[in-house]
Amino acid sequence: MWLIKDAHVVDPAQEIDRTCDVLFDNTIIAIGTDLSDKDIPDDDSSLSIVNAAGKYLFPGLVDVHTHLREPGREDKEDIASGSRAAVRGGFTTILAMANTQPVIDNRGLVEFVLRQGERAKGARVLPVAAVTMGLQGNELVNMAELHKAGAVAFSDDGRGIQRAQTMLLALQYARLTGCPLISHCENESLAAGGSMRRGPRSARLGLAGIPASAESVMAARDVLLAQECGGKLHLAHLSTAAAVLALRWGKQQGIDVSGEVNPHHLIFCDDDIGLTDTSLKVNPPLPSAADRDVLLDALADGSIDMLATDHAPHAWEEKAQPFAEAPFGINAFETALAAVWTSLVKPGKLSVAQLVRAWSLNPARRFGVTGGSLRVGDPADIVLFDPDHAEVIGEGAWLSKSTNTPYWGQKMQGFPVAAWVGGELRADRSGMRIL
Ligand code: DOR
Repeated sequence: MWLIKDAHVVDPAQEIDRTCDVLFDNTIIAIGTDLSDKDIPDDDSSLSIVNAAGKYLFPGLVDVHTHLREPGREDKEDIASGSRAAVRGGFTTILAMANTQPVIDNRGLVEFVLRQGERAKGARVLPVAAVTMGLQGNELVNMAELHKAGAVAFSDDGRGIQRAQTMLLALQYARLTGCPLISHCENESLAAGGSMRRGPRSARLGLAGIPASAESVMAARDVLLAQECGGKLHLAHLSTAAAVLALRWGKQQGIDVSGEVNPHHLIFCDDDIGLTDTSLKVNPPLPSAADRDVLLDALADGSIDMLATDHAPHAWEEKAQPFAEAPFGINAFETALAAVWTSLVKPGKLSVAQLVRAWSLNPARRFGVTGGSLRVGDPADIVLFDPDHAEVIGEGAWLSKSTNTPYWGQKMQGFPVAAWVGGELRADRSGMRIL
């Protein structure tokens, strides 16, 4: 049992944003000011008391968009390394995308991901199953069966579903399971061959560009399709102003649609890209500066519901290729919170409560998964966050198997110092004083 004293507790679900104490074992037992002996069962001999003055405590982050690469590319990441890197980064529940080799499109593999996740003892790992067999965009998976096996959402993420009729049917079937269908909005005929956002910067670098419309037309299409069939749609990694318009319009119409944005699309823009550093090569590509502002406004006003990392580990030898040939993706679990803290929260662009709402409460609610709040009786998925803790990335611990982050070698500040999953301490950067 744990008693965390004098933390700044931020729990938007209960509108708590103040200094108090939290008592928990595998579930939350009490939150209050000056919790006293009467709150603590006196027969418990294993009580750990932590002085958390100056630190924040919030419900563990819930990341609905991650790539763990198992099965198939365990050299880049596996479920154990990914889930441990995640919990070190403050994530207590993560959703693992289906674009593995082979693709998570059958019952055996959904159960495999769940089992490997349980064994890892990091963040809770929940499978996202594919929408179409082999991510080929043709034959639908058996959604009812995969949902029963444990899939919490469906997505062909990594590829857009090109045929509108397939997407419409997928939305209809996913609706029967109650799971969101996560759309990777990318029109391949528009995006083909590009490696960054099309604009003045891509022209200057001589790189083939991906027009913003490659995302926007698919976002608009999918919102309209969800309207037609009453589907439950989630738009992944939004990166264009027009896709945000489609999301806002959809919500105004009462369509069951949500959206996410990745930290890198809020922090960087196409002007930050150079030919020698492929760590900023992501799909969708980094936005223009103007679109980045729209994304941040939309997150701050709640039009975009949540943050998600799109943690996409890649082998260094792949990322060491010339920009046009390197794979898309940023390694994010262990840097994302510090990056958002430093670039958005500290400068006052996002409040701590907005951060927790967007990265814990909203994703947990939308996807119906564990976490998101610290109500008495909830599983104790908790993060203790130290805004002053600084680290040089790569010096010291690093749990992901890959290093494709733009922050490698840089000093960052604002890290989780401890994380509990179901009351079990699964990450500890020490600094915690156990009294
Ligand atoms: O940058 C990305 N990397 N975007 C995606 O959609 C897929 C991901 C990956 O799997 O590497």
